[in-house]
Amino acid sequence: MQPEKIGIYEIKSELGRGGMATVYRGYDPRFEREVAVKVLPPELLHSDPQFRVRFEREAKIIAQLEHSSIVPVYDVGEENNQPYFVMRYMNGGSLSERIKAGIFTVEDAVKILDRIAPGLDEAHSKGFVHRDLKPSNILFDSKGSPYISDFGIAKITQGQSGTMTGSGIIGTPAYMAPEQATGDQVDGRADVYALGIILFEMLTGKQPYEADTPMAVAIKHVTDPVPRILTVNPNLPADTDLIILKAMAKNRDERFGTAVEMVETLKLLVEEKDPDKKSKTLTALRTSVKKQNAVAKKKRSPALAILLIVAGVAAAGIFLFNRNSLPLSPEAPTETAVQTSTPATVPSQATLESTETSVPATETATLPPATETLAIPQIPLIGGADMVAFTRDNDIWIMNVDGSELRSVTSDRAEKFNVEWLPDGDTILYITGKTVKTVNIQDQREEIVTSFASAEYFDAFRVSPDGKQIAISLNRELHVVPFDLEAFPSNPTKADIIAMKGCLFYNDIGVKDILWSDDSQKLSVEFVTPSGANVADTVRVLDVHLCQSSVPIRQDEFPAARFKFPLDIVNFDWDGNLLFTLNSNIRNGGFGDLFFYNTFTHKADTVAPVEGKCCYRDAAFSPDGTYVIFAFQDINLGTTGPILLYYIPTGSLTTEGALEAIPLPDGFFTQRNDTPMPVFRPAQP
Ligand SMILES: Nc1ncnc2c1ncn2[C@@H]1O[C@H](COP(=O)(O)OP(=O)(O)O)[C@@H](O)[C@H]1O
Ligand SMILES: [Mg+2]
Repeated sequence: MQPEKIGIYEIKSELGRGGMATVYRGYDPRFEREVAVKVLPPELLHSDPQFRVRFEREAKIIAQLEHSSIVPVYDVGEENNQPYFVMRYMNGGSLSERIKAGIFTVEDAVKILDRIAPGLDEAHSKGFVHRDLKPSNILFDSKGSPYISDFGIAKITQGQSGTMTGSGIIGTPAYMAPEQATGDQVDGRADVYALGIILFEMLTGKQPYEADTPMAVAIKHVTDPVPRILTVNPNLPADTDLIILKAMAKNRDERFGTAVEMVETLKLLVEEKDPDKKSKTLTALRTSVKKQNAVAKKKRSPALAILLIVAGVAAAGIFLFNRNSLPLSPEAPTETAVQTSTPATVPSQATLESTETSVPATETATLPPATETLAIPQIPLIGGADMVAFTRDNDIWIMNVDGSELRSVTSDRAEKFNVEWLPDGDTILYITGKTVKTVNIQDQREEIVTSFASAEYFDAFRVSPDGKQIAISLNRELHVVPFDLEAFPSNPTKADIIAMKGCLFYNDIGVKDILWSDDSQKLSVEFVTPSGANVADTVRVLDVHLCQSSVPIRQDEFPAARFKFPLDIVNFDWDGNLLFTLNSNIRNGGFGDLFFYNTFTHKADTVAPVEGKCCYRDAAFSPDGTYVIFAFQDINLGTTGPILLYYIPTGSLTTEGALEAIPLPDGFFTQRNDTPMPVFRPAQP
């Protein structure tokens, strides 16, 4: 069960579970920021009387580990016998998710290693060894920069009282250096070994050693020769083989001395900048690798390796709690990343299908009556829409409503919100950071409309359906100004916006998001309200057709007294008339229960159109209000279950018959907390 609070931190949703810990998305009321709270199992405390003392001491040292590529630890504590860490919330997912989405080019892999290697070395120079470096411990921020997380936590969770000498087996077998697997003392070079494996995995989508049990994997690290990366991916530059061989040398003296040395060597070999230096480095590398191969011939026998590993496990006594550690985890090391083709290449198939038939057979359950499609046979329509725009991994994608002609129109991976189609049908407007941008779907030309750089809050920029006005939420105040994208200065102040001689300025409430009614006469605004010790979101429907000449007429307000709803509204949408969708936050940063609210009857219903299951987000109405599109992620499939998009007719929300997801490439959404935010485009004449 998810706690409401841990220490002073309000728990919002579960981000995921790893080998032994559960990580929650939380809110730190003191600094008013989002945090990640990692809770360790209480067994740790009971198993070891010294644990509490060590935990506090070591955790505080870790919290001091400061580097621009290490996820900062803000706080540590213990509640109800459960030790916890509080760290920066990283909303860009993990490297393991990115590897699952497709293999990396050498250049992209270098970019990641280049940023994290100095952080590793800095920690090593202070005497910290990570011990559990692996793709799921490399997390990305919203800008896509990688950070190392869980530094030293493997050591803390080691259940060996007293000595902190680094003996004992900690870590995940798939990434474990031989000396670590056999319980020897480890130093920074164990992390260099793991970094070699991470590079191998980024470039091939596979782990170098695979076997049926964690023990078998650990044995391979000790006994098996280093796999040749070119046999797994022959398209790689040949010299990457040498880098892997050296990074993963069995004898740590043969490895790169530091992580930066490894990355710099890799860069030198692939970048071809300095041919002289390159040939010298190559010679040195070849010699060192040859020497290592000669040593490897006298390899340890598997039997001896087993003995060593078992001895190490016994000495450490930690594995009871760590499912990813030896020997209790049957799934961890064998669960290798599946190499999928990159989504960008897949849509061609969908395009082909769509030219064969105007209405793909799989869509019969959700497509509108045939008469509607007969009128324009080539382009399927749903609810008055012909296309959908949505985001995936922070970029905007578009497709026909049947899923065909899927393509991305941005590629900067910068977080985006307020995605909307402009009335011309060719331009998509969105906000990134505090900048309003447009992108043309024909030529993908991007333009900056304006940037509210000095605003404290800039939450919405919504063009009215009649294309005449823009509703803006600036510093939690609502402005309605004439639609003229050219009229905005850069970095507009409140005075600049007022000077645009808009129809309305409204600051009775702290406005966040805004939606227009179909007739462009009303607005629904989401605003923040105090609720006991917390804040809650409320939606207020305002009639604004009289503009400033009268106070906007308040027509309804919900959930408030109308129906029970958890505090924060992740997403809400309006059919522009009477119906609203809202979704609550249960997991993965915004998937929750889906509510429909009718502002005429004042009644709300929770619906679970996909087989009655949780969880949903980002439901959006079609232009004529007869359909909604929504994202679904099955709570029963764990935190990394696929995200799917569906349509459902608003007339039969409660029919929980079989629904077919919109056909997108398998595993298309790669971040488990992706925010698709789909928006229909009204069918173009
Ligand atoms: N600081 C963080 N911000 C956001 N997500 C996090 C953070 N730390 C961990 N997570 C997520 O929580 C999940 C569990 O993490 P963890 O217990 O460290 O397990 P592991 O590293 O073995 O996957 C992971 O999927 C990870 O992506
Ligand atoms: Mg982790």
